[in-house]
Amino acid sequence: MSDHELRVSKIRNGTVIDHVSGGHALNVLSILGIDGSEGLGVSVVMNVPSDRLGLKDVVKVEDRELSQSEVDVISLIAPEATINIIRDFEVVQKNRVDRPESVIGLLSCPNRNCITNDGEPVETKFAVVEDGVRCAYCGTIIRDSLAGHIDPE
Ligand code: CTP
Ligand code: ZN
Repeated sequence: MSDHELRVSKIRNGTVIDHVSGGHALNVLSILGIDGSEGLGVSVVMNVPSDRLGLKDVVKVEDRELSQSEVDVISLIAPEATINIIRDFEVVQKNRVDRPESVIGLLSCPNRNCITNDGEPVETKFAVVEDGVRCAYCGTIIRDSLAGHIDPE
């Protein structure tokens, strides 16, 4: 990419989530629980042309790595995403995301009567099914807006 095409700077340390389906960058940020108040350096590029995806988004988060649960939920909204770990300006690791069999923690069940919403120390668990994710405890299926069901803590 030539200099005049580079939209945001390279980062020194952190994570670049690249090849996110166009328009989903803000959902990625909510999955990561980032709203800016953390003080992390965050760069977001939306709807730039991509050979593979048509339009893609890119999210760069400085000084932060991702948990497996976060990567799992990102894979459900951005199946083509690549997660690049950056150290000292170099890409030291590049991974495509995989669609997981289940997601543990991070998501909350929308069923208020679900045991996971009872104040019990039960971590949420959702099986990944064709049309969404299904709570392992009560069977409730979340079909859309996974980012809207992120557990705030
Ligand atoms: N990147 C960054 N800061 C760095 C190094 C890389 O922000 N210090 C970003 C690049 O801008 C790019 C992504 O991390 O969005 C991956 O970098 P790289 O592997 O160098 O780019 P490509 O070869 O284009 O990646 P791919 O083959 O995955 O498309
Ligand atoms: Zn449930």
